[in-house]
Amino acid sequence: MKYRSLGKTQIKVSEIGHGTWAMGFMWGERRDEDAIAALKEGWNLGINFVDTAYLYGQGHSERLIAKAKSQSEHAKNLFIATKCPPKSRGWPPRPGTLFREAFPLDHLLAITEKSLKNLQVEQLDLQQLHVWLPQWLQEEEFPQAIEELKKRGWIKYFGVSLNDHDPNSGLDLVKSGLVDSIQVIFNLFDQTPREKLFPLCQENQVGVIARVPLDEGGLSGSLSPQTQFVKGDWRRHYFKGERLKETCERAEKFDFLMRPPVESLAQAAIRFCLSEQAVSTVIVGMRSVNHVSMNASISEMLDFSPEELEKAHALAWPRNFYPSFP
Ligand SMILES: NC(=O)c1ccc[n+]([C@@H]2O[C@H](COP(=O)([O-])OP(=O)(O)OC[C@H]3O[C@@H](n4cnc5c(N)ncnc54)[C@H](OP(=O)(O)O)[C@@H]3O)[C@@H](O)[C@H]2O)c1
Repeated sequence: MKYRSLGKTQIKVSEIGHGTWAMGFMWGERRDEDAIAALKEGWNLGINFVDTAYLYGQGHSERLIAKAKSQSEHAKNLFIATKCPPKSRGWPPRPGTLFREAFPLDHLLAITEKSLKNLQVEQLDLQQLHVWLPQWLQEEEFPQAIEELKKRGWIKYFGVSLNDHDPNSGLDLVKSGLVDSIQVIFNLFDQTPREKLFPLCQENQVGVIARVPLDEGGLSGSLSPQTQFVKGDWRRHYFKGERLKETCERAEKFDFLMRPPVESLAQAAIRFCLSEQAVSTVIVGMRSVNHVSMNASISEMLDFSPEELEKAHALAWPRNFYPSFP
């Protein structure tokens, strides 16, 4: 496993990070034993970055991480990033929502305290806002909230997870110097962060956590137009109607990236994310030991050639299939 700096924090994070949304909720059936085994296998293989959120099962995924930690001798020097959900309704937040409505200080403190308890730590490595509106930069409550969390010693670093497919909403935030990291969707389909966000993050030494590298499964190579999602799997909506068929057709166009040592589309898609030097870690959702071992090995693979990358860049397909909630 190779490691990269998380912006100016000097923390070395594994190129492959562990995403834990599906361990918590919304992805249909799940087995906690599998999730714990997957986390432990990742740590055995050198993964030291885990992304979670209070929202993932009201702390369920955070508690699973704590449980796995208590059972693993390789869980040293882990860096665990969590997120605070907004208190206000609207996901993403409705334009005009004030910071103090979305993240009133008492809410931010209460959720942070719960995450500390769930993760069984005295300080969070990284607390992130789970949503973002650029107007919040103009509100004094925003930097005050960060300061308060740091003053209490409850968080080491602070970051923001940008709303789905909206990387440019983070440009002024990156320039502000207020955040240590930015989390953003980046994959073969949505390559938009390459245009403005990534160069700016490098210039300002802000860490980049690249999320959804497999397009929620669309770039995993394991879906077909016939795939049926189980009850309770939110992807019934994401891939509804003709979306799944088109996604599979578009994904097939990247088959040229599957050449030795790259064995699968999933590996190609993750390797692609690592071709960007601005990216600190790529967080892949993984609930099985099998996926963890396949994905951890990608870090050591050689990068794609400039010609391969150029071809991949030309096949980008930005669109937004995510549901929004009023
Ligand atoms: N707003 C936000 O802040 C936000 C939103 C979305 C995601 N995230 C974070 O980003 C992480 C990653 O995104 P995601 O989990 O939504 O989606 P993802 O990583 O794009 O895709 C996850 C899917 O890929 C499958 N997979 C993983 N490795 C594979 C392999 N080698 N071969 C075939 N299939 C493979 C997983 O299966 P298994 O589950 O069976 O292993 C799962 O179905 C999340 O877990 C979460 O931590 C944050």
